[in-house]
Amino acid sequence: MLPRHVAFIMDGNGRWAKEQGLPRNQGHRAGTNNLKRLIKYARKKEIEMLTFYAFSTENFSRPMSEVSFLFSLISEYFQREIQEMVEEGMRVHFLGDLSLFPSPVRMVLDKTERLTAKGDAIQVNIALGYGSRKEILAAVNSLLKEGVREVDEELFASRLYTAGMPDPDLIIRTSGEMRLSNFLLYQGAYSELYFTDLYWPDFDTEAFEEALTEYGSRSRRYGGIEEK
Ligand code: IPE
Ligand code: IPE
Ligand code: MG
Repeated sequence: MLPRHVAFIMDGNGRWAKEQGLPRNQGHRAGTNNLKRLIKYARKKEIEMLTFYAFSTENFSRPMSEVSFLFSLISEYFQREIQEMVEEGMRVHFLGDLSLFPSPVRMVLDKTERLTAKGDAIQVNIALGYGSRKEILAAVNSLLKEGVREVDEELFASRLYTAGMPDPDLIIRTSGEMRLSNFLLYQGAYSELYFTDLYWPDFDTEAFEEALTEYGSRSRRYGGIEEK
């Protein structure tokens, strides 16, 4: 059985670079190189949706030089790739508080969403300026503002950045860390978790395939008992 929606916590760029004797920023650059291959592979497998955690609300606490490098890397990446993304039928969507980003970067992100809006081969979400707690509180506050007095799961989910999307079936984190770091805390309530020691720049399609095989062997019971 294959997942509909796979989410990645792309971790370990800095340590990858350090091991190669390179500056951290080179690790971030290397970390963008495998994206295309992973997306193509997922499309071949008919996985509907991928989500990549690229920059958290907490990542703003990094040194300014690293934060601005990441901003330029992100905007260069989408400027360079947008044409091919459209041709490949990718629908790109950003999850997070984009108002935290400088306006030239935001313009590139907006343009990417606009030009890929009709893509129907695969949806690719990029979590940027994303933090689950912030997302949940923003949802609560928007409902309060409307004077809503009672909330059900459907209404609540409709106020999250992931409104209308299926929950992630599988969350993969690289670099050996075993935590969620404020990623999809509500949506991931029943996600299968997969951890690998590989650093993100080394996470290739073979590693992805291994994760999918492991996912296929899991028994998702959702609190029930296994059906035979
Ligand atoms: C993940 O790699 C990328 C971002 C969080 C932007 P890191 O930069 O966290 O790499 P490590 O964890 O320091 O190795
Ligand atoms: C998680 O990685 C965030 C992203 C991959 C964007 P971090 O490197 O920021 O997480 P912590 O600080 O180790 O929990
Ligand atoms: Mg990290």
